[in-house]
Amino acid sequence: MLSSSSSVRVSVRRADLPARLRDETSDLHHAVELRMGLPESVRSRGDYSRLLARLFAVHSAIETRLDAPSWSEEWRAIGLELVDHQRASLLRDDLHNLGVSQIPPPALAPELTTFGQALGCLYVVEGSAVGGRVLAPAIQTILGRVPTAFLDGETRGHPHPWQATLTALRRFEDGHGDGDDVILGARITFRMFGHNVARSTWTTAA
Ligand code: HEM
Repeated sequence: MLSSSSSVRVSVRRADLPARLRDETSDLHHAVELRMGLPESVRSRGDYSRLLARLFAVHSAIETRLDAPSWSEEWRAIGLELVDHQRASLLRDDLHNLGVSQIPPPALAPELTTFGQALGCLYVVEGSAVGGRVLAPAIQTILGRVPTAFLDGETRGHPHPWQATLTALRRFEDGHGDGDDVILGARITFRMFGHNVARSTWTTAA
């Protein structure tokens, strides 16, 4: 038992930005998971091809937006090379290997107005790659052998891109960047995914 003269130092550590992002966007992660219903909503190669086509439209729009010349110095300042985080080309490869010749146009880009919001968007995009690695074998179990370069990300040197994103988020915060703005960008991006990849737009499953 502590004597009355003992002083107990309680240090309350504030959650860092990656932890805040996870907590403060978990509602939208859950919503998007429900909206996509994966992996059960993929019943055929046609479903899978349409899903990848929708994802191509989303990723190509986001990649172009994040690559805005006005942000290029800021990506570098927090140690990121955008090219290491771009996956639309993997979607293009998978679609090609599935025999899909018509590549869809980009979706409407998310409305990101600051670099902090762009960083929140990148968090969502890289986080979805973490989830994708879980989905790749589940899709193979349903469909048999199908191209999964996008979902399994084998060529990307996992887990480097995700670790680099977390490090960059901490650097941004250490440099007094606005964490609330990053969370806003993540929330905008989750909603953009939700609008564009709802299962009703690609699956034939009931
Ligand atoms: C239905 C499909 C999805 C499933 C089953 C799924 C599942 C998962 C899983 C298992 C993780 C890893 C958790 C961990 O290892 O700690 C994860 C992380 C994540 N996913 Fe998803 N995901 C799905 C779709 C998405 C989509 C479409 C997005 C983006 C719009 C997304 C964004 C994220 C983010 C940001 C994280 C990182 C969370 C964090 O640790 O901060 N996920 N997801």
